[in-house]
Amino acid sequence: TTMSTTDLRALIRDVPDFPKPGVGFRDITPVLASPEGFHAAVSGLTELSREYRPDHVIAAEARGFLFGPAVAAELGAGFVLARKPGKLPRETVSVEYSLEYGVDRLEVHTEAIGPGARVLVHDDLLATGGTARALCELVEAAGGEVVACAFLLELAFLDGRERLAGRPVHALLRDDAE
Ligand code: PRP
Ligand code: MG
Repeated sequence: TTMSTTDLRALIRDVPDFPKPGVGFRDITPVLASPEGFHAAVSGLTELSREYRPDHVIAAEARGFLFGPAVAAELGAGFVLARKPGKLPRETVSVEYSLEYGVDRLEVHTEAIGPGARVLVHDDLLATGGTARALCELVEAAGGEVVACAFLLELAFLDGRERLAGRPVHALLRDDAE
C-alpha cells in the first residue's frame, strides 16, 4: 500500500528563514530518506503523468535528478538531463533564465530530444516557475513538445504556473500559503 499524500507532505520539512530571512525552505531530504516516502512520490508523479504518454522526461540538476529518472523508468520513457553550462560534452542547446539576482543557464544535448518528441517536464518544486519555464523553452528549442509539467510540490501562492503559459501543470502536493 502506498503512503497517503498527507503523510508524504509531512516528510517535507518547512525550514523558516533559509537560505535567507523571510524565505520558507521546503526540505525534501526526508522524503528521500524514507523508502515508503520515495515510493509514494515516484508512484504519485508517475500516475499523474501517464496519460500524457511522454517519450522523455526532462529535469534540471540537482533536485530534478532525484525523482525524475525513477518516474521516467516507471513511464517507460527516457530521462534527459538539463545541466548547468559546460557539463555536457556534446552539442547542446541552451537557454538563459532569470534568478532573483542575475541570470543562469541550462543546457541539454541537442540529440537527446528528437523533432516532435513528447516531453514531460519534471522538478521537485514549482516556486516562481523560472526553472520549469527554462526547461520548457529548452525542449521547444530542441524541437520537442512539452506535453505536461509534473512537480512533487507546488507553492501555489507564488503563481509559478502562470509562467508556464497554458501548458498542463500537475503537482502531487500543493501549499497555498508561505
Ligand atoms: C529549486 C528547486 C527547483 C527551483 C524552483 O532549485 O529544486 O528547481 O528551485 O524554483 P523556481 O520555480 O522559482 O525556479 P535550485 O535552483 O535551488 O537548485 P537545486 O535543484 O540544485 O537545489
Ligand atoms: Mg532545482
